[in-house]
Amino acid sequence: MCEHIYIHIQIIQLSLSISLSLSMAAETASPLPSNTFPSQPTKITSIKTLAESPGLTSIPATYTFTPDLHGQVTSVPEGSIPVIDYSLLISGTPGQRSEIVHELGRACQDWGFFMVINHGVPQKLLSSILDGCKGFFDLAEEEKQEFKGNNVLDPIRSGTSFNVSVEKAFYWRDFLKVFVHPVFYSPTKPAGLSEISLEYSQRVREIARGLLTGISESLGLEGSYIDKALNLERGKQIFIANLYPTCPQPELAMGMPPHSDHGLLTLLIQNGIGGLQIQHKGKWVNVGTHSNSFLVNTGDHLEILSNGRYKSVLHRAMVNNKGTRISIAMAHGPSLDSVVSPAPEFLVSSKGDEPAAYIGMKYKDYLELQQSNKLDGKSCLDRVRISAV
Ligand code: OGA
Ligand code: NI
Repeated sequence: MCEHIYIHIQIIQLSLSISLSLSMAAETASPLPSNTFPSQPTKITSIKTLAESPGLTSIPATYTFTPDLHGQVTSVPEGSIPVIDYSLLISGTPGQRSEIVHELGRACQDWGFFMVINHGVPQKLLSSILDGCKGFFDLAEEEKQEFKGNNVLDPIRSGTSFNVSVEKAFYWRDFLKVFVHPVFYSPTKPAGLSEISLEYSQRVREIARGLLTGISESLGLEGSYIDKALNLERGKQIFIANLYPTCPQPELAMGMPPHSDHGLLTLLIQNGIGGLQIQHKGKWVNVGTHSNSFLVNTGDHLEILSNGRYKSVLHRAMVNNKGTRISIAMAHGPSLDSVVSPAPEFLVSSKGDEPAAYIGMKYKDYLELQQSNKLDGKSCLDRVRISAV
């Protein structure tokens, strides 16, 4: 009874905070006080333009983060990040398949992160889509502005940092975010991007669904469980291209701060320059470069659905002074109208009833909440966590 009241209060608080954050998002980006940082233009320029300013040897104060956000990085022994051979999941013998399902489960439990090899997407398509994104970032600023979007749920949005309307310091990053499923969108420029993006999105979505089938099985469920429960036929797929230009003071800048992703699985590729780090057992681990592999992380909605059995992984993007990095993160989530809560199958354990550790929330509301606020660790997930039970 007491628990019910508590949950009820949390829901009221949550809806209050959602409406608050939505009204914040509705405001336009507030210009920075120009007298505070004279080197910073009042309109926040793209990081590409800033990074290409002639003679740039230091970064403006507005892009500086204290060293504690950079933290200590551990190197893990070569080969310790889990690797999943996708071809065995799809066309292996029953024995090979069950071994891969087991490995997937272990990777989700121990790391929330794994690399996928033998996925069947041609290297040519991977390089074409990376080139297409480079072409987008190379467009003139005014052309990119056509795709800036006004609202966090607009199907095409391009911009800089993560959410400049709520950030005090900015990330060394430009982005393009496009909804590619269930309805496919694409910017109309540069020429050819739309066709490549459609093909790439479909191929990656197939792989994500294949992996989620294996992950369902690894949780002791039917292979199609997640697909059906979260209506993946109409699942939200978001294409996020990230540009991290060469930075003169990489030790002071941050590409993306520590965060977990919304949704179920994110599949990432990059242009041969590394920068992704994941948190493993409390330490930051360099992922490095792995051409021809997908770097996959589990998202908040897998954590919610599994009632915490598979935790979403914290990760961040570092910048460097060796070359411009482009990454493409493809996020796969439930359908926008799915209400995601812990599956009933996980509310019992060998010890008896297991309380739900998260309240249910519509994926659309979660997405809106996450995108309208600062990107900050697992703060969005914390808002649906039931801490008192
Ligand atoms: C993301 C992300 C990391 C990277 O887009 O959500 O975590 O290395 N990107 O670009
Ligand atoms: Ni991410």
